[in-house]
Amino acid sequence: MTDNNHKPMINSARKRTASRPDTIRFEFDDRFRFIGTNRTYAIETHGCQANEADSEHLAALCEAMGFSPALSLAQADLILINTCAVRENAEQKVFGEIGRLKQYKEKNPDLIIAVSGCMPQEEVVVDKILKKYRHVNLVFGTHNLHLFPEYLEKVIHDKGQLIDVLSMEGCIVEDLPALRKNRFKAWVNIMYGCDEFCTYCIVPYTRGKERSRDKADIIKEVRSLIDEGYQEITLLGQNVNSYGLDLPGETQSFADLLADLSQLPIPRIRFTTSHPKDFSNELITVLSQGGNLMPHIHLPVQSGSDRILKAMNRKYTRDHYLNLIRSLRIAIPGVSITTDIIVGFPSETDVDFADTLSLVQEARFEGAYTFIYSPRSGTPAAAYRDDVPVSQKKIRLQLLNQHINEGYLAGNQRFAGKIVPVLVEGVSKTDLTRLSGYTPHNKIVNFKGPMDLIGKIIPVRITQVRTWSLTGELANLNPKTR
Ligand code: 5AD
Ligand code: SF4
Repeated sequence: MTDNNHKPMINSARKRTASRPDTIRFEFDDRFRFIGTNRTYAIETHGCQANEADSEHLAALCEAMGFSPALSLAQADLILINTCAVRENAEQKVFGEIGRLKQYKEKNPDLIIAVSGCMPQEEVVVDKILKKYRHVNLVFGTHNLHLFPEYLEKVIHDKGQLIDVLSMEGCIVEDLPALRKNRFKAWVNIMYGCDEFCTYCIVPYTRGKERSRDKADIIKEVRSLIDEGYQEITLLGQNVNSYGLDLPGETQSFADLLADLSQLPIPRIRFTTSHPKDFSNELITVLSQGGNLMPHIHLPVQSGSDRILKAMNRKYTRDHYLNLIRSLRIAIPGVSITTDIIVGFPSETDVDFADTLSLVQEARFEGAYTFIYSPRSGTPAAAYRDDVPVSQKKIRLQLLNQHINEGYLAGNQRFAGKIVPVLVEGVSKTDLTRLSGYTPHNKIVNFKGPMDLIGKIIPVRITQVRTWSLTGELANLNPKTR
């Protein structure tokens, strides 16, 4: 390792400072303009929407450096793996992938392999890369995307291995370019990091202190997306409900931000992820106005047992959660609620799990991401005894998924025969003769129609309902916005 290298440290990642980080305005340095001339790049993204959004920035930086997209990993001159650390099995997959890249390096010694995202924020991961994956040229984390061109230049010049992972968040970087994957729907980060420290979760360590973007910067970004013809934005944050609490001066809340954004001429606004403990009455009131605020809320509950919620440090009870859902259903008639649930958290008994199943029934979720608990080194729960046998965890997951699937189907069934506005995204992935898009409640609909509907919001009558999708037919051909 050279003096340039910086490894992550969990104790620094745990620290929270009172000061607000500086905001810097990114400007692309022309020195890096030709690094990628006649070279190609490929980016593989693992994990959540935050990573997808980061990859869109990294792709834009690649193209600013002159790289063009590679047709496949095998043909690329630069391969970037943007990683996720939330669960162990996702990490194993990434290590397998990095191992396989060695064969490409043997064929093309000039190939540059870079690893970014949440995994490099873990000390154990960096140590493993240093020891076992010497063919990786560049490792950087979540706090320094904007330095990517500088790193690449160094790596190409020095030919060695460069590790630069900052354990504590740096600045908020504005004006980073983005090469967005979807032409009609865009991610908009409203904040970075997380201060919740749920005991199972590594994100507060990999993404650092919670820090909100200035409202003016968010509004500026949304306005430019509107000018570019985007139809939908999804506001991103690990806990969007605590947006603004770290901003100086007058307190800005997520409810205020959403109220302001809803005045802009963007047809659809979504947000993710909400923490149930911070879902304020003001926010519910803003959402009840409807309009361009879509009637779908992703509200991770994690468990239905008060004892387990406490051990997870979720800071709400089952009753609080169910009351919140009741309020949401009253304020936003027909709202669709989805969730995240973990099974097999340390000490989870059959009774705790039965509480989760009964909560699922009561909450009438219309979808969920369900997970088996995965101990993450450095988190408080990693020190608890992981005492639920794997076989038991698997049975619980299967049972839970059966309940969740019933919810998916019931959620879809309520649209049978109805006309719903669909934002048409393109040709269906499962049937090339059909188009597909999403409803306000975030249900996918496949239907036959002309290609020029792509990018428009049009009325579709639902003719068939399945667990995972809806089938429909055009209700009429006049584009309609909602
Ligand atoms: N094990 C299993 N699932 C986890 N999640 C976060 N950390 C873990 C973990 N250690 C899940 C939570 C969270 C989602 C993004 O991932 O349900 O809401
Ligand atoms: Fe992880 Fe909890 Fe923060 Fe979500 S709120 S990112 S689960 S610590």
